[in-house]
This record gives sequence, structure tokens and C-alpha cells, in this order.
Amino acid sequence: NNYVVIMAGGIGSRFWPYSRNNQPKQFLDILGTGRSLLQMTYDRFLPVVDKENIYVVTNNDYAALVKEQLPELTDHQILKEPLRRNTAPCIAYASYKIAKKNPDAIITVAPSDHIIFHEEKFYNVLKTAISAASGQDKLLTIGLKPNRPETGYGYIQFLESKEKVNRVKTFTEKPERDLAQKFLESGDFVWNSGIFVWGVQAIIKAFEECLPEIAETFADIQKALYTDRETRAVDDAYSQCGNISIDYGVMEKADNVYVVLGDFGWSDLGSWNSLHELSEKNGECNVIQGNAITYDTQNSLIHGPKDKLIIVQGLDGYLVAECGNVTLICKKDEEAKFRDFVADVRDKK
Ligand code: GDD
Ligand code: MG
Repeated sequence: NNYVVIMAGGIGSRFWPYSRNNQPKQFLDILGTGRSLLQMTYDRFLPVVDKENIYVVTNNDYAALVKEQLPELTDHQILKEPLRRNTAPCIAYASYKIAKKNPDAIITVAPSDHIIFHEEKFYNVLKTAISAASGQDKLLTIGLKPNRPETGYGYIQFLESKEKVNRVKTFTEKPERDLAQKFLESGDFVWNSGIFVWGVQAIIKAFEECLPEIAETFADIQKALYTDRETRAVDDAYSQCGNISIDYGVMEKADNVYVVLGDFGWSDLGSWNSLHELSEKNGECNVIQGNAITYDTQNSLIHGPKDKLIIVQGLDGYLVAECGNVTLICKKDEEAKFRDFVADVRDKK
């Protein structure tokens, strides 16, 4: 009864210009392991779920890339979205599709932009979550101890219990800096990992209660799923859906959310900064991917193709990224600027 839904339709704009519209970060071998983040995510679930029960949801534009990177997947395991509507419609589509095949399914929803270092520990946490979700009207998420006032994550406050599964009191998606700082200092909060576990009936019920328009839209097209009318029906459904993430749309609102705490060496590879943080650094605290010589340079990340020599002098805390026809030199930790970079470059074209 176990299913995995891998969400792989994001753009990864904070990894620009490495992550591009036609090749977002989940398809890149960011760590240099020989496998992309998507492939690493798929590999991670193979030992714990039948491979025919792994679904990947992605944008139409990336379906061919998914097929190329994961040739074992059959066509019906790759769910194609006509429009970017964030994670709520993505999860709704997958849920209604799986429900039609197996109304008792337990679904693990996984982002495709994570690294997990201790897989055995992760499997144990997952097992706990899956058994807590089985036959229950519960929405489970995996929580992680925070170590900085990150504003890009969800924060979870829970009622502490002796059990491994704790009832969630509040869920706050992407708080402002000050609030994130308070959450961190209070010691009462964990980060939302963005990995969710629930019975398919529980998530459908949650959609009906929290996002009724989305629930209705997908219930209406359920008959067409697995038929040759699926693509048309899904196109129609998406044109009626708003853009909303599961975190804002469901997790913040539902009152049957539970958290299982995990400690398995986790990182969301959200940005260049996070890549610098978790990569091995040289004596000057630089991370060099490609071919570079540095002088008086510290805490910097230099990324470029192997056949291009990059020479850097006098930088501290910078990113130098040379990818395709773009060279970007900017302060490594000013992640908010990336939106502007991408938008301004688009306008210039
Ligand atoms: N198919 C599909 N369609 N996938 C999508 C879409 C979409 O429209 N939008 C995003 N995704 C995928 C991304 O590729 C990523 O793998 C995953 O869904 C999560 O989306 P992000 O955009 O990376 O979310 P986030 O990192 O800002 O926030 C989420 O993850 C954090 C932990 O990494 C939230 O769940 C936070 O609460 C959480 O802390
Ligand atoms: Mg993310």
C-alpha cells in the first residue's frame, strides 16, 4: 500500500545561473556524485517502496528529462503539469490519481531538492510515520531541529509527548526574520522537512476542508485519469487552480497535523549558500567546483566548467558562478537578490 510522490517541478531560482529554466536544480548533479538530486531522491526510496509505486510530478517541459534520468519509470508514473501552480495542486493531482488505483494507499510526499546523509536513520523515521498514518485521519510531517533563523522553511510547534508522534499545535510557513529568531530561541519549534506522510483518504479530506476548489476540480476529473482523456482533463483542472503551496494551503490550516522528529543529517539544497555550507572546504574556507586559482580569497564558492580557468583575487564571502552564457559574481549570502537577477535578465531579452 506504500506509495511515494516525488515533487520535481520547481525552478530552483536561487541556484541561478546553474539552475536554468530548461534544467532546474533537481536535474543537476549539484554535489558531483554522478546522480542528480532527482535521481538521488529516487534511489533513496527504492529500498523501501515498490518501484512501480514511485510517482514523479513535474512540469510538462521537464517530462522528457525525468524519463531520461529515470528510464525505469513508466509513462503513468510521470505526472505532467501544464502550468506551475506550486505544491498543493501537484499533491492533489497525485493523490486523486493514486486514490483511483488504491483507496487505501499510504503516500510519502518528497521534495526533490534534499540531501540526507544517514539513510538508515531516515528509514526508521519514515517507518514510524507510515505506521502512524495507516488507517488514520492524520497528516504527518517529519520535523528537524533548527540551527539558524532560516526564513525559507516552515516552523512547527508541537505538544510534546512520550510517543514518537507528536500532535502539532501551530505550523507557520516561511516566517519573517524576527519571528524565525523567536521560534529558534524559544526551543519549542522544529523545521518542517517538507516530507509528508498520509493516507490518501486523509489528504483528500484535508483538501476538501482546506482547499475545497482544488478538491472539487480534481474530483471532477478523476474519471478521466488513467485514460486517454487524462491530459486534456488535467489541462482544464490546472487552468482552474490557484497558485498555492501545500504548506500555506493545508498544513497551516488543518488541525490533524502530527510531527515525527528526525535526526538524519538533512539539508535542503536551496541555494549556493547551502551548497557552500555542506561541501568540503579548503584551508581558506572556499569551495571550488571546476578549475580556479584564488588569491586572498575566503568563504567563497567558485563554480565553473572544467575547461575554463577562473582567477579570483580579494573576495570574501562571494559567489563566482560561470554557467553557459552567464557569469554571476555576487555576495554569497544575499539570496533574496536572485529573484531580481532572474527577472531582470528575463526583461532584458
Ligand atoms: N511538480 C511540482 N510542481 N513540483 C513543485 C512545484 C510545482 O508547481 N513547485 C515546487 N515543486 C517541488 C520543488 O521542486 C521541490 O522539490 C518541492 O516541490 C518543494 O518546493 P520548494 O519550492 O523547494 O519549497 P520550499 O523549499 O520553499 O519549502 C518547502 O520545503 C521546506 C524544506 O525544504 C516547505 O515545505 C517548507 O515548509 C519546508 O520547510
Ligand atoms: Mg526547497
